[in-house]
Amino acid sequence: MIPLPSAPRIVLLATYLAARSDIESLTTLATHHSKVLRQDLLLRILLTCLPETLPPSHYVSLVQRIESASFDIDVQPREVDWSSVQDITDDEAARKVRKLRLLPLAGENAPTDASNDPVSLFLIHRAHRVDQEAGLLTQLPDLIVPFLDHAPCIRTWMVSTLLPLLRRDHEYYPHNPAAQTLADFDRMSDQAAVDLLLSQTGTSQESLPHVGRDLRGLLGPWLYNDARWRRGDENNNYGGHDQPPNHTICPGWEHVLEWITLQASKSWEVAVKAVDQWDGPGDVDLGGYASMWLEDEEQEYLEQRYARAALASAYLIPEASVEALTGVNSIITKIMALLDQDPCPTLQVASSLLPPFVDPDGEQLLCAKNATYMRNDLLAESNPLTNPNGTSTQLLHILTLSAFILSKGGVPCTVRKAGELAFLQDEREQKAEATKFIHSLSNNGPKSDDRYWIRARNELLWLRDWGAEEAQDSSDVQAQGIFGQLNKEFLEIECLKAFLSNTRYSLARSIYEDAPEKPLDSDMLRDTIVSAAMNAYDNASNPHRGRGGLLKCDDIIHAFPQTLGETHPASKRIEALLRATHALSEYRLILKKGEPFTPVVLRVHADPISIVGKVLEQNPKSYTRIQDFLEIGANMVDAGLLTSSKSRQSESAAEIAWQRSIVEKRITAMCVDAALTEDDFETAYSYVVNRLATESNRFSAKPGNGFTSKGAATKSSLATITDEYSWKAALQAGKYRRTARTVKPTHIGTASGNLDIRHLEQRIECLATALRVAPPATLQEILNVFRKCEEELNAAVKAEEAQESAWDDQGDLQVMPGAFSSTVPAGVVRSTKASSARHVEEAPMSLFDLSRASMARAQRNLTALSSLQRSENARSDEAHGEAGDGSDQPRTRKRDQLRDTAIGTLASGVGWLIGAQPADRGGERG
Ligand SMILES: *[C@@H]1O[C@H](CO)[C@@H](O)[C@H](O)[C@H]1NC(C)=O
Ligand SMILES: *[C@@H]1O[C@H](CO)[C@@H](O)[C@H](O)[C@H]1NC(C)=O
Ligand SMILES: *[C@@H]1O[C@H](CO)[C@@H](O)[C@H](O)[C@H]1NC(C)=O
Ligand SMILES: *[C@@H]1O[C@H](CO)[C@@H](O)[C@H](O)[C@H]1NC(C)=O
Ligand SMILES: *[C@@H]1O[C@H](CO)[C@@H](O)[C@H](O)[C@H]1NC(C)=O
Repeated sequence: MIPLPSAPRIVLLATYLAARSDIESLTTLATHHSKVLRQDLLLRILLTCLPETLPPSHYVSLVQRIESASFDIDVQPREVDWSSVQDITDDEAARKVRKLRLLPLAGENAPTDASNDPVSLFLIHRAHRVDQEAGLLTQLPDLIVPFLDHAPCIRTWMVSTLLPLLRRDHEYYPHNPAAQTLADFDRMSDQAAVDLLLSQTGTSQESLPHVGRDLRGLLGPWLYNDARWRRGDENNNYGGHDQPPNHTICPGWEHVLEWITLQASKSWEVAVKAVDQWDGPGDVDLGGYASMWLEDEEQEYLEQRYARAALASAYLIPEASVEALTGVNSIITKIMALLDQDPCPTLQVASSLLPPFVDPDGEQLLCAKNATYMRNDLLAESNPLTNPNGTSTQLLHILTLSAFILSKGGVPCTVRKAGELAFLQDEREQKAEATKFIHSLSNNGPKSDDRYWIRARNELLWLRDWGAEEAQDSSDVQAQGIFGQLNKEFLEIECLKAFLSNTRYSLARSIYEDAPEKPLDSDMLRDTIVSAAMNAYDNASNPHRGRGGLLKCDDIIHAFPQTLGETHPASKRIEALLRATHALSEYRLILKKGEPFTPVVLRVHADPISIVGKVLEQNPKSYTRIQDFLEIGANMVDAGLLTSSKSRQSESAAEIAWQRSIVEKRITAMCVDAALTEDDFETAYSYVVNRLATESNRFSAKPGNGFTSKGAATKSSLATITDEYSWKAALQAGKYRRTARTVKPTHIGTASGNLDIRHLEQRIECLATALRVAPPATLQEILNVFRKCEEELNAAVKAEEAQESAWDDQGDLQVMPGAFSSTVPAGVVRSTKASSARHVEEAPMSLFDLSRASMARAQRNLTALSSLQRSENARSDEAHGEAGDGSDQPRTRKRDQLRDTAIGTLASGVGWLIGAQPADRGGERG
């Protein structure tokens, strides 16, 4: 019979059995010696000696026996192997037991409500150790679950501590387990715990579908613990959020909300997914371990704060894309459902409905001071924008819809940006955005579809007043929309411009001209049409009016027959511009090196007529199409290219006529020059005598004719425009000398068969024209040429005569006006005396000398000139009368005519010089 073992030996044996995981023997030992192996001692032995690697299933039943203290029931009496403590004396055993250092049941951070409960303390401490020493977190449910009903603190700990960490490390993110142990986790601050649980949430694209799961499966259970909650009176100003006094708060929850709003501002998709996938604090997954309830007050608090954080997130999302805004709207929809409000439509639907925003509370919210709430204190209870009620959700929806319409139209806009436009009502900002929006409409979407444009216009107008005008059926409501400061007319005009630049002519007409209620008054409409037409014109690259920009311009001015009929001055002006431009399209024309001519160059050219000169230069023989060029010039005048738009208004018909005639002369002169350059003297000559000579008669080349009385010189530049062209061209033609390259005349007509003589006569005729139209200061120069030319003619005639022996000398009339003979200087007399038998031909010579020598005298008495003219005429009549056979009569007459012309010119020219009225020109003046 073995003596009863001493208590130390029993304890020592129990530790040996525990260390060897011999649960069966230990159970037997405990059954036999329950007086010694009391509950807490046994639990401490298990906690201290049982290897942590031993699966809990092996010892749960023992713990259950310990829990229920039911050792004597149905335990088979069996032998315990005492051999391990056989050789130890009782004293030794007592000494060894004292050195055992068994662990206390209560670990660090043991739940306070478990302090008198050894089993609960053991379970939690054991769990910490299994995790810490063996890393066998996954086996812990086997240890804990059997004891869920043991005490509430075990269930709470299981759900709010073990379950979240277990899911986080082994179920949800097994590849990224937390470094912290279960014990670490148990003593973490709320902030650190939230950060740990959500540290992998939404960090990758693959994890996005699981954001809601994480909140439901990690945060949800974690919150189900009274330890997470504080009463407001303990710490009222928790985390800077001004809670009402005695408000229940959950600091951990505040961290979750901060996490959500942080996601909104740095990776918006995570925030959107969070709200989308998670139905809020009521939506928790306790893993079947519990069905716990929060207090109503707690639940209410969690939901209100959650809704606020969701609304805050909407304002924080920095991404301006259709996707992000769609996400924002899904947040709003979710929160509305959470708050039991009527759901708002999707943005797609809302943007076609364009609902009015007429919430009186919301309108009060919309003031500049409240804009700061979009940036600051978003989670604060005092923030009216995130206060989860009908007002804030409606306002947020309308802002989101506004941002959506802009973004969809190609102008990315965030909710906050839309909010700033609406809150601050800064006109410049609004205008910039509206303008961007309208421009970008042309680059996005089916721009050849009228429905697209109708919708775009509706959206644009809605953005101004958010439908208030329509809803209240009155146009004097203060527009509150994101374009609230902009005139409706401004938007309509911009819209119309977009229609026109996208060739939506009939749509534009139906809205702006045909509709019974006209969005724009007719002046505005007309101005817009004209400027759109000019824009199209300026943007054109091809001067052909059937192509591109010019076609557009043409179409635009004809698209509004009631507003801009063909007889309207603006229509006429643009029509003339199109004609002029189109006519130029038929020619080769390069203004700058390598750059082909574009229409806008013509419109803005400082001297558009000079372009005709370029055409003449660059297109051989084009001078023969003088009629084309004259038309181009006339169209340029009619198009108003020669006057600034300011002075255009005040231009009189007479001024325009004057301008036209100057242009006509200038272009003719250009053609003369071009013809001469291409050695086509005949054409140049014909232009001089047929065009410059006759046209010049209508207007004097001198300034001050007929216009000074109208005061034109004082305001318009017209008076300073003078005909500097005709005389120069005529002079140029007069200077031309025949060469071998000169184009031969195609017909000789009645003139001399001698080409040299004929040419000289033609030159003289040109010079005579020049004399008639030239300003006084230039007369001398022309006369020099004239004289030389006459000398040459004389020489040519003499040469011809020398060959014509049959020529009969017909008297030798040396008629010199006596009144002058005595005053003519010696040189002049000499040259007169040296004249040949053909005295008739010398007359112009003396005339010239007269003009030079007697200028001073003539200034003193003009009648001298008149008498000269008379006597010259008489003399030439005489000469004609004496012409016998008449064979040279046409030539003589012709020369006489020339001389007459010159005399007349000189008389009037000199007369003008001295400030007297030329008798023969006075009649022309009106
Ligand atoms: C807050 O709670 C304290 C103590 O619980 C109480 O004395 C106080 O009246 C409460 N205050 C309010 C505003 O309810
Ligand atoms: C801001 O919003 C609140 C809440 O609707 C409103 O009462 C107030 O008039 C608004 N303006 C300012 C300056 O706070
Ligand atoms: C919503 O809250 C704001 C600010 O807190 C308040 O001005 C507004 O009247 C409230 N609206 C509703 C419908 O309760
Ligand atoms: C301007 O011209 C370009 C091509 O020449 C064209 O793509 C564009 O639409 C035109 N813009 C306007 C406003 O007509
Ligand atoms: C020119 O002569 C006429 C008559 O011979 C005279 O009446 C007139 O005053 C004179 N003119 C000048 C400017 O001397």
